[in-house]
Amino acid sequence: MEFNLNKMIRPHLAGVKSYQTLRDSYINKQAVYLDANENPFGQFNRYPDGDPIQLKKILAEINQAKTENLFLGNGSDELIDLTMRIFCEPAKDSIMIMNPSFVMYEIYAKMNNVKVEKLQLNSDFQLEKEQFLDTISKSQAKVLFLCSPNNPTGNSIDDLEFYIQNFKGIVVVDEAYIEFSPEDSAVKLLNKYPNLMVLKTLSKAFGMAGLRIGVGFASAEIASLFIQLKPPYNISSESQKLALEQFNNIEQIQNNIKFILEEKKKLKEGLDQINEVVKIYPSDANFFLIEFKDAQLIYQKLLGKNILTSLRHPNLKNCLRISVGTAQENSELLKVLSEIK
Ligand SMILES: Cc1ncc(COP(=O)(O)O)c(C=O)c1O
Repeated sequence: MEFNLNKMIRPHLAGVKSYQTLRDSYINKQAVYLDANENPFGQFNRYPDGDPIQLKKILAEINQAKTENLFLGNGSDELIDLTMRIFCEPAKDSIMIMNPSFVMYEIYAKMNNVKVEKLQLNSDFQLEKEQFLDTISKSQAKVLFLCSPNNPTGNSIDDLEFYIQNFKGIVVVDEAYIEFSPEDSAVKLLNKYPNLMVLKTLSKAFGMAGLRIGVGFASAEIASLFIQLKPPYNISSESQKLALEQFNNIEQIQNNIKFILEEKKKLKEGLDQINEVVKIYPSDANFFLIEFKDAQLIYQKLLGKNILTSLRHPNLKNCLRISVGTAQENSELLKVLSEIK
């Protein structure tokens, strides 16, 4: 399918030049910095690197990608917002999302005055191909957001490539939970599809939610567009430093993922024994979507014991989304659940 990036960008942004700073080429050099009205004193007095190459190199290596295809956000939330701000004209354009899916797509669309078209998932939380083709034939949506594994349902979306191939606008595959999943990342499809963007995050499997680092992958043209148009210093210097330190111990990160997956199996076995549980949906992520006889009651009872879960009722009737915690947290959860009559 013919794809022309210039036709995707909001017209007034074509050729726009971002905030220019000399600083990035002088990072870590002994220079006299009188260019940015910083304070010469203090521990955190300097602005951070706006395009941190060390961190990007590590992320490129981990994801078998090239640094030119990579861009960073203050969490992938910021990249979701920027996607709409770069491609969607307020009060005119629309995005297409799966229903149910990650709530922030709709919230950012609302903030940007962008319309939302929804593709209803079937009872297995999969897209229906016929329905998809029919919907897009009548739609002008600029961006399609596909979340796989999907939040809050937990499942991976079958045959993602079919949707990427058939959509004429930008397709964003949000892989926030991919490291917990047996499925391959869509990053390997980047060479094949110029309309593809993949979003990842350090908040989930990498255990760095507090650092706020989201990672985008796309063609070099799209990547440089995001680097040009993002806020100039969107990742703090402390976050950059701490993320690099965490990646020094990649084995620990991998062990934690393994541990979470083992705990997930045990948690599922425990939940299978709980009388109040109606259904545990299949999950490729670090959480379960669970249908209870009375989700509201379970939610309140757990909250009464200081256990926070995510109530998805009424959109997903009688469902809670529950993350996999430590062994102790999971057994505390199971203990409270087993005592609810
Ligand atoms: C599917 C999905 N995408 C993106 C995000 C946002 O992640 P970040 O912490 O990188 O902003 C989340 C967080 O819950 C998520 O579930």
